[in-house]
Amino acid sequence: MRSKPYMLALFLLAATVAMGQAEERHTSHADHLEHHFDPKESALRFDDPARDLWQLPDRVIAELNLKSGQIVADIGAGTGYFSVRLAKSNASPKVYAADIEPSMVSYLRERAAREGLPNVIAVQAAADQPNLPEPVDLILVVDTYHHIGDREAYFRKLTTSLTPGGRVAIIDFKADSPEGPPKEFRFPLEQFKSEMGKAGYKLVAQHDFLPRQQFLIFEVAGPSS
Ligand SMILES: C[S@@+](CC[C@H](N)C(=O)[O-])C[C@H]1O[C@@H](n2cnc3c(N)ncnc32)[C@H](O)[C@@H]1O
Repeated sequence: MRSKPYMLALFLLAATVAMGQAEERHTSHADHLEHHFDPKESALRFDDPARDLWQLPDRVIAELNLKSGQIVADIGAGTGYFSVRLAKSNASPKVYAADIEPSMVSYLRERAAREGLPNVIAVQAAADQPNLPEPVDLILVVDTYHHIGDREAYFRKLTTSLTPGGRVAIIDFKADSPEGPPKEFRFPLEQFKSEMGKAGYKLVAQHDFLPRQQFLIFEVAGPSS
């Protein structure tokens, strides 16, 4: 005969697994664009140390080649996976960690304080703009591009939030990644180029070292491009 605490633990485990499966089912619907993220549940996934093996954050940050004094916006910062690493990197940039979820923004603010990072500033983003308080040298968009609604209008508006020569780095899931959004939200390179082109950007670099994600760098296209 099993003890009551044992049975309760078993029940809680089963309930947790079922909730996880429900979450997967939810994200497979076309409402993925408006998918809501809970900071505590998200932190388990976004900040899982196992992610580092395929996210290769140090290599990503090295490729971004930031200079001291530069300013970064991490749009869709989530729980701060990249914001915190960027803020701690050699260039020690000021990082605007913007997210649409108010609870995520609170989490980011608390995490920055907890980790002693005054150069991480949490920003409440809106659906159609990240509400950046000043122009930035780099906009980083990790696993968030596919959540943004009218991307052409969104990124066109953002051209005015970049310093001259500023860049937009987009990292998002490839079609064959073992994890990520439903297939219809995993875009081919041509779609990124086409949407960003219409928004006023040109592709200036494509990094191929991430096994699960595209890693693309765009700059504002000049009048002759
Ligand atoms: C899949 S998570 C990625 C989090 C983080 N970039 C990372 O790599 O761990 C997507 C995040 O984007 C946020 N988000 C979705 N749409 C957004 C929008 N229009 N503007 C800003 N943040 C958005 C969500 O709240 C969520 O925190």
